[in-house]
Amino acid sequence: MSYIIVGAGGHAKVIFDILIAQQKEIEGFIDDYCTESPIETVPVLGTTDQMDGILDNFPESKYIVAIGSNRLRKSLVTKLSSYSVQFGTAIHPAAVIGSGVQMGDGSVIMANVVVNSGAVIGEHAILNTACTVDHECILHDFVHISPGAHLAGNVKVGSEAQIGIGASVIQGIEIGAKTVVGAGACVVRDLPPNIVAVGCPARKMKTNTK
Ligand SMILES: CC(C)(COP(=O)(O)OP(=O)(O)OC[C@H]1O[C@@H](n2cnc3c(N)ncnc32)[C@H](O)[C@@H]1OP(=O)(O)O)[C@@H](O)C(=O)NCCC(=O)NCCS
Repeated sequence: MSYIIVGAGGHAKVIFDILIAQQKEIEGFIDDYCTESPIETVPVLGTTDQMDGILDNFPESKYIVAIGSNRLRKSLVTKLSSYSVQFGTAIHPAAVIGSGVQMGDGSVIMANVVVNSGAVIGEHAILNTACTVDHECILHDFVHISPGAHLAGNVKVGSEAQIGIGASVIQGIEIGAKTVVGAGACVVRDLPPNIVAVGCPARKMKTNTK
């Protein structure tokens, strides 16, 4: 089973490295703006407007949309889904995954991540480098847990929410959909949807308009 990576930026290169570490075969990148491959040995196959031809050439490949922005990742997943592509996952061999963890298609787990027992990860989520997701957490589709962020047990993260780099969330907290938790924040109360929250304790800074 080979893989095609959608996106050709920095995040896509990290996904490339994870798939190589998993000894997967990679056919190439798809990117709407970049024609030059970020990896010399692997081509850019075309744009998302050229999916018919790409699917003819690689009918069995799995796709990972490797875009850090939750909103953009979701819009590309929606576009590719109309071609009925199959989405794959990428899990770095240096990640630690507990018993009974569930993970949706399209999601990625980077190096040194720990996901503890019973956590549920939706589709097209990013668990970035060295974050931790403790027991029974529920992460909905298209979330991004940034590098070094820590979620204690039983935390719920709504779809398209982002937990910023180095942020911490205490046990049992619910974070609403499309909310952004700023870098280094510590979340000790539930956060509603569609806000940007920063600081320790994390408080609303503004509405999330992105
Ligand atoms: C919170 C965040 C989303 C705000 O971004 P923004 O809307 O562009 O805000 P700005 O940079 O214009 O900053 C607005 C104010 O908030 C402050 N601020 C920004 N981020 C902050 C944070 N994480 N904690 C505390 N204050 C913060 C700024 O200092 C600024 O204050 P000032 O007006 O007194 O100068 C962003 O700073 C952040 O933390 N993003 C997370 C990034 C991340 O985790 N990346 C990982 C990618 S893998």
